[in-house]
Amino acid sequence: MPDVEIAPSILASDFSKLESEIAEVHELAESIHVDVMDGHFVPNITIGPVVSNSLKESSRVTTPLSIHLMISDPWKYGPEFSTGPGDVIIFHTETTDRPRELIERLGESGCGVGVSQKPASDPEEVVPLLPMIDEVLVMGVEPGFGGQEYQQRTTERIRFLAGKIAEVNSDVKIAVDGGMNAETVATAAEAGAEIIIAGSAVFGSKDRRKAINELKRAAKQA
Ligand code: DX5
Ligand code: ZN
Repeated sequence: MPDVEIAPSILASDFSKLESEIAEVHELAESIHVDVMDGHFVPNITIGPVVSNSLKESSRVTTPLSIHLMISDPWKYGPEFSTGPGDVIIFHTETTDRPRELIERLGESGCGVGVSQKPASDPEEVVPLLPMIDEVLVMGVEPGFGGQEYQQRTTERIRFLAGKIAEVNSDVKIAVDGGMNAETVATAAEAGAEIIIAGSAVFGSKDRRKAINELKRAAKQA
């Protein structure tokens, strides 16, 4: 299998020392995943533009950000996130009737734009958007919390979207988010995931760098 990219999710990190937590992993990570939750779209609250934008300004955080909006109003709050080329901002299709316009709006800074869906939503809805986006984020768990078990049905969703992307010869990348560990990463990579978002598997382990390398190795052996 080709190399996967790893995006450690700061949701599982120690928020009291966020900058140094990121500094520990950023050399090995292709991006840093920022989970934005509003207590409405998902039953949990995390951080918003104030914290994310400080990370963007930090000279110790040079890795691109992958900003995952799990919020009911991405139109209002999405543009408040500082982004630029290399970063990706991802919204959920369930939160807007005008996904095409939102993709254009969020991409105005030159960043990439991705879409995601809750596990029960129909992946067919993403297909017409493929020519406009850079990433599809496939949830491996119900969004809202880290540390959940990977839902096996995710693998078929990844495979379905990989097939559609290949059909239109597009370079949209598939990211998988939730429940990633040395076993599930192999399954997801084999099905077509190229970006692995991992919270607990990275920040929950004592040696974070070793954990990232293990995920990369496991994906390669898939
Ligand atoms: C869940 C978040 C995920 C989460 C993954 O709603 O979108 O990014 O941080 O956590 P783990 O890797 O612990 O499942
Ligand atoms: Zn996420």
